Amino acid sequence: MEDKLFFSKAAPPVPFISSWKAPSNIALIKYWGKSEPQLPKNPSLSFTLSTSVTETRVDFQPAKSCSFDFFFQGAKRPDFNPKLQHFIDRITPYIPWIANYHMVISSENSFPHSSGIASSASAMAALSLSLMELEQHLFPETEKDFFYKKASFLARLGSGSAARSIAGPVTIWGQTTSYFSSSDLYAVPFGSELHSVFQHYRDAILLVDHGSKVVSSTQGHQLMHKHPFAENRFLQAAENLEALVPIMRTGDLEAFIKIVELEALSLHAMMMTSTPYYVLFKPNTLAIIEKIWEFRTSSGLPICFTLDAGANVHVLYPSEYASQVEDFIKKELVVFCEQGKYLLDRVGSGAKKM
Ligand code: PMV
Repeated sequence: MEDKLFFSKAAPPVPFISSWKAPSNIALIKYWGKSEPQLPKNPSLSFTLSTSVTETRVDFQPAKSCSFDFFFQGAKRPDFNPKLQHFIDRITPYIPWIANYHMVISSENSFPHSSGIASSASAMAALSLSLMELEQHLFPETEKDFFYKKASFLARLGSGSAARSIAGPVTIWGQTTSYFSSSDLYAVPFGSELHSVFQHYRDAILLVDHGSKVVSSTQGHQLMHKHPFAENRFLQAAENLEALVPIMRTGDLEAFIKIVELEALSLHAMMMTSTPYYVLFKPNTLAIIEKIWEFRTSSGLPICFTLDAGANVHVLYPSEYASQVEDFIKKELVVFCEQGKYLLDRVGSGAKKM
């Protein structure tokens, strides 16, 4: 298995501090369904975001065994420990030196707490980068390309979509013949052939509902195992990705919109036809979608939507139409947002060292 590449060695512990800021991402081709260990059933492609980020600082202290304390927005949060412990258990074979550290992990999100924006992708990406920074310190021969590849590899083991939160502005995760160097083990950046329109794309995140999800992503992925439409869905996603890759180079927005909206609705169709079935849409989600369609027809502007595993709507549009689209959001869509809240984000260049 190719993951052999990512095994490192034990090393004597040294005190070290590392801080990274990693962005959230929004998938255009959705990852939904996986096999062990966190390998996707189909390739996915996402926009890396810019202002929706997690900042994480890790204070590594030499110790006899591996342990950690986790702080979120300044408060100690032992309720996150099981998830973090599971992550650390999974990655320890690849970074055996971690056995000799106590880590104080402090994390903050730029986006509002309980806004319904998943933070696991940005959080796992930031933590993985801090771990890689120490690995590079311990093994200075670590090359830059390998550093980012392994950070994405580690992040994937924490949360699949986190693999796509290292680089920007667009990344692909999952093996596909349509993109050279793609892999199930880590995400790769789309590269310089990305059309300029997508390098500045906007994403207005309309916060429709911040309540906790009735079915978590972990459970949702599980339900794809016995799903009657699963195999066709994996095929559809792979084909949609194959069709989208050339569009990301040519900037054909009409074709882009057709694939992106189909992917969003297909993801939710899988949820609605799982056993047990469930719906993460809210009436306001659908009201916003209909308004977007009406506005697109009447204005002729290339605006579209995508959805994550939740009720919030991501409105996607080229930066040159930002003022018209943002006027439309204020006049017609804000009424459907919980407490009128939305976030204006845009495509970003990936994680940064602090
Ligand atoms: O990374 P996870 O296990 O939380 O799954 C994410 C799945 C979606 O957000 C719904 C789609 C995606 O590709 O990001």
